[in-house]
Amino acid sequence: MEIRQIHASERQARSVPIQAYAFGRSPAADVRERMQGNQRFYAEHTTVVAEVDGVAVADASAVPMRQNVRGVIYPMAGIAGVATLPQARRRGYASALVTELLGMMRDNGYPVSTLYPFRPSFYGRLGFVGLPQTKTAVFPLSSVAWLREASLAGSVRWGTLKEHYDAYRALIGRLLADRHGFAVLPESRMSEFSETEDHWLATAWVDDTVAGAVTYRISGFGDDLVAGDLLTASPLGRALLLGFFGTHADQVEKVSLVVPPAESPELWGTDFAAEISATTAFPASPAPMARVLSVEALAGMPVGDGHVTVEVLDDPFIAGHYELDGTAGALDARRVTTLVPDATLTVAGLSGLVYGVLDPDELPIRGFGQATGQAAGQLRTLFPRALPYLHAHF
Ligand SMILES: CC(C)(COP(=O)(O)OP(=O)(O)OC[C@H]1O[C@@H](n2cnc3c(N)ncnc32)[C@H](O)[C@@H]1OP(=O)(O)O)[C@@H](O)C(=O)NCCC(=O)NCCS
Repeated sequence: MEIRQIHASERQARSVPIQAYAFGRSPAADVRERMQGNQRFYAEHTTVVAEVDGVAVADASAVPMRQNVRGVIYPMAGIAGVATLPQARRRGYASALVTELLGMMRDNGYPVSTLYPFRPSFYGRLGFVGLPQTKTAVFPLSSVAWLREASLAGSVRWGTLKEHYDAYRALIGRLLADRHGFAVLPESRMSEFSETEDHWLATAWVDDTVAGAVTYRISGFGDDLVAGDLLTASPLGRALLLGFFGTHADQVEKVSLVVPPAESPELWGTDFAAEISATTAFPASPAPMARVLSVEALAGMPVGDGHVTVEVLDDPFIAGHYELDGTAGALDARRVTTLVPDATLTVAGLSGLVYGVLDPDELPIRGFGQATGQAAGQLRTLFPRALPYLHAHF
């Protein structure tokens, strides 16, 4: 088996047949044609294939994205389209391709990576740790009826994604700057989104600024309003969009809406009846995962006033000893050679601390390392808990 990076022009012949079999409904006459039509949106992806006797049997891509981690925006490698043809599975091709991609992206200046796993334990072995799942709130129109009478200093516009794309893009840029974990796709992939024709986009405006946006579709008269991710920059933006949903009272029965992990829809109104749930299932409904690809490149990240030396275990990219110092308010991270470490961490353990989803006391329980007493305290101070919201799907 040979691993080779392919050029965008080779994707139709090498990658699409594998992708169509793995991710499409099949057999279906048009699945390859549809995927081929979409390849122009993937021109910026880095794609590698595994070839046996010159025939591509597995492929995987990295999407060049950006992500806010604790307030700093980093280049982020979004791993996507990992697939192996059935006859070539369980030979290690998928994990070899992902490892190759991670190395390439790290060398190109991407210090972090995220993905949506078909099974988290597979990517756990490659250093990834789980991030929180979004919630879905399903509520009757009566839950937002009160907003029709409320006097809110703003307005809502709705239309096609194409018509409102600039406003949406502006909001995405604002959330990327403000929100821990938030990630955005490259322009080529965003334009794929802007050409989607099976959803409306509602935008909330306060003065001349977009304060919220949500995609939605109406599944039928007297049926449901099915909304995508609720993106809001303020409570007013949220209230404006909920009030807009309320105007559909005699048209639809209920609203379903995807909200960030830290959101509590039951607190949106006094009589807010809703069913709020989060489902993780594999491969259909995975929560995202993330990992660090370069510790030194995280220097400058706002962290707490802690100081600790760690050994990162068993990894092709970041194994080694580091001194992590936050006493100046920003992370100083450097490799060291001689120190006996205060704590040992797997890459998943370190990544969980950096992303704010792990307490040091969880490390030995999860098999993510050891940090006793003082070292656990220093790690807790350095990397306080913080709930990331990835948002982007890829
Ligand atoms: C998921 C998928 C990509 C895995 O591809 P693969 O090439 O078989 O993956 P690998 O061989 O690297 O690893 C698969 C398993 O085989 C095991 N394995 C690897 N080499 C092996 C060998 N020589 N003998 C036995 N098992 C082996 C791996 O340890 C891994 O074990 P696990 O299932 O317990 O995690 C493939 O099944 C697929 O295309 N599925 C449909 C699409 C999909 O779900 N894609 C993932 C999107 S994130």
